[in-house]
Amino acid sequence: MKRADPTAGAGATTLELARASYREIALYAPDRAPCAIDLSDNTNLFGIPPAARRELVEVATATVTRYPPLYAQELKRALARYAKVRESEITTGCGSDDVLDSAIRAFAEPGEKIAFPDPTFAMIPIFARMNGLVPVPVPHREDWDIDAEAMLATRARLFYVCSPNNPTATTASREQLERLISQANGVVIIDEAYAEYASDRWIDLAPRHSRLLVVRTLSKAFGLAGLRIGYAAGPETLVSEVEKSRGPYKVNALAERAALAALREDGAWVAQGVATVLENRAKLVTKLKGLGFSPLPSAANFVLFPVVDAARTTKDLRQRGVAVRPFTGLPRINDALRVSIGPWEMMEALLTALKELTR
Ligand SMILES: Cc1ncc(COP(=O)(O)O)c(C=O)c1O
Repeated sequence: MKRADPTAGAGATTLELARASYREIALYAPDRAPCAIDLSDNTNLFGIPPAARRELVEVATATVTRYPPLYAQELKRALARYAKVRESEITTGCGSDDVLDSAIRAFAEPGEKIAFPDPTFAMIPIFARMNGLVPVPVPHREDWDIDAEAMLATRARLFYVCSPNNPTATTASREQLERLISQANGVVIIDEAYAEYASDRWIDLAPRHSRLLVVRTLSKAFGLAGLRIGYAAGPETLVSEVEKSRGPYKVNALAERAALAALREDGAWVAQGVATVLENRAKLVTKLKGLGFSPLPSAANFVLFPVVDAARTTKDLRQRGVAVRPFTGLPRINDALRVSIGPWEMMEALLTALKELTR
C-alpha cells in the first residue's frame, strides 16, 4: 500500500485522503484531572466486585511472569455462558475499544466508508481514521431513534450503532435495527456497552445473523474499566476474522483472572449495582427537571442534558468538586453535559452544585 502523504490534496485518492485525515486528528484527551466526585466517564461508581478484588490480591503474583493464554479461551467460555452463545461465537480484547478497532479493521478495507448515527461514541471516527476508513456520520431521527434508511443510503461497507447510545443515552428501536441488519451490504456492529442498564439486547441473537457483531464490555456494569476487558458475539465466521485482526495476548493474565471471578461469582453484586443505578437515574432525572433542565430519556448509567454553555458549566462544577463530561455543538442539542449515575450522595453533590449555579 502506498504510504500516506499528509499533504495530499486535490487529485488525491479517497484512500490517501482517509489516511491524511487520520494524521490530522487530535489525540483523544478529555479532561481526566482528579476531582472529588468524578461523574465524567460512565464507569461503575460502586467500587470493585468482591470476587474480582480477591482474585487480584491473592492471585496476582502467580500470574505475572508468564504470558497469558493467546486468545483468552477460559474467559471466552465464561463470557459465552453469560451472553448465552457458544464459546466459538465469542471474541475478546483489551477493552471493547480494542474489539471495535479490530472489527473495523477486519470488516472494511482502507478507503471504504463506515456509517454511524451522529452523535455517538467519540472513538468511532477515530478508529475509522486509524484504519484508513472514511467516517460517515448520519443524523438521528427526531425521536432519537437511528435512521436506518439514511444509514443504508450512504452505501457504507460497515455500520456502527451504539444502543444505548453514548452520549445521548437513547436506544435504537428493534424495527430500525432489523431493517439495517437485513439490508446492509456489509457488517453491522451493535455496541452494547451499556446493555445491562437497558431492557433490549441483541447479544444472544448475534450468531444467528450472518453479518452482525455485538460488542460488550466489563468496564461498566461489571466495574472493571481499569482491567480493560471487552468482548463481542457473532457468527463464527465474523468472530474468527476479528480474532485475526486483533492478534494474540490482548487480555492480560491478571485481568483474565479477575474477570473470570467476577463472571462466576459477582452476579448478585452486578445486579444490585444496576438496580441502584436505575433507581437513582429515575430520581436524578426528576430532580434535574425540577431545576429546569431537560435530560434526554436514558437507558444507560448516565444522562445527557442540554445547557447553555457546557465548557463554562463544567468548569464551575469542577470548582465545586464535581467532574462531568461537556459536549459542544451536538446535532440538535448544541451544548450538553453528560453525567454518570452513581450512589445517591454523588448525585446530591451534583444537584447541590447545579443549584448553586442556577441560583
Ligand atoms: C459506547 C462505548 N463503547 C465502548 C466503550 C469502551 O469501553 P472499554 O472500556 O471496554 O474499552 C465505551 C467507553 O466509554 C463506550 O461508551
